[in-house]
Amino acid sequence: MEKNKIVAIVGSLRQASYNRQLATAAGKILASVADFVSVADFEILDYDDVPLFNQDIEYPAPDAVKRVRKIIQSADGVWFFTPEYNHSFPGVLKNLIDWLSRPISDTEPQVLKGKPAAISGITPGMSGTGIMQDHLVTLISFLDMKVMNQPRLTIPNALQQTDNNGQLTLTVSTPFLEKQAQAFLEFIEKNKK
Ligand code: FNR
Repeated sequence: MEKNKIVAIVGSLRQASYNRQLATAAGKILASVADFVSVADFEILDYDDVPLFNQDIEYPAPDAVKRVRKIIQSADGVWFFTPEYNHSFPGVLKNLIDWLSRPISDTEPQVLKGKPAAISGITPGMSGTGIMQDHLVTLISFLDMKVMNQPRLTIPNALQQTDNNGQLTLTVSTPFLEKQAQAFLEFIEKNKK
């Protein structure tokens, strides 16, 4: 069976982030469901040390940028789990993507090109992050990622799926997350060069 690597990028840096918890749940699903088309290593990208983008410090790239680029290069697929901030994606995520969008050098292209991408988002509000997701699709399509548009996962009313300690239970959404995980593995296989 093929072994793929999926790197999760979480658009929220806060420790108890629902989107980070959703990413963790996806990782567990990928590790446990036996009848998927392939198995996957799963890693949540840490990037809170990536500085604000500034062309004055672009070359040579800061160590944190070199580190995240290497991790993305090693990925067969990138799965975004991100909140909606003011109907768009958070600035920390845009900052990371701006760094990743730049060529490594004159001879090495940017690392997102051609990578399969999946998108999920959860919010305590009603919108389910759908408007943010459309903005994110526009951005990562411009960067030539291969976007899996169906299924995307939007989860509204997060508080209906959390326990008293703020931990996500995903009582309703787990089957949808499983479906998306399976679809993404199939999408990665189909889009292999
Ligand atoms: C929000 N939130 C929010 N929610 C939403 O559904 N649509 C929105 O447009 C916004 N806008 C927004 C802007 C800013 C600046 C903040 C801080 C928050 C609420 C947001 O969904 C909520 O804080 C989530 O819990 C954030 O995701 P994590 O950190 O739990 O993953």
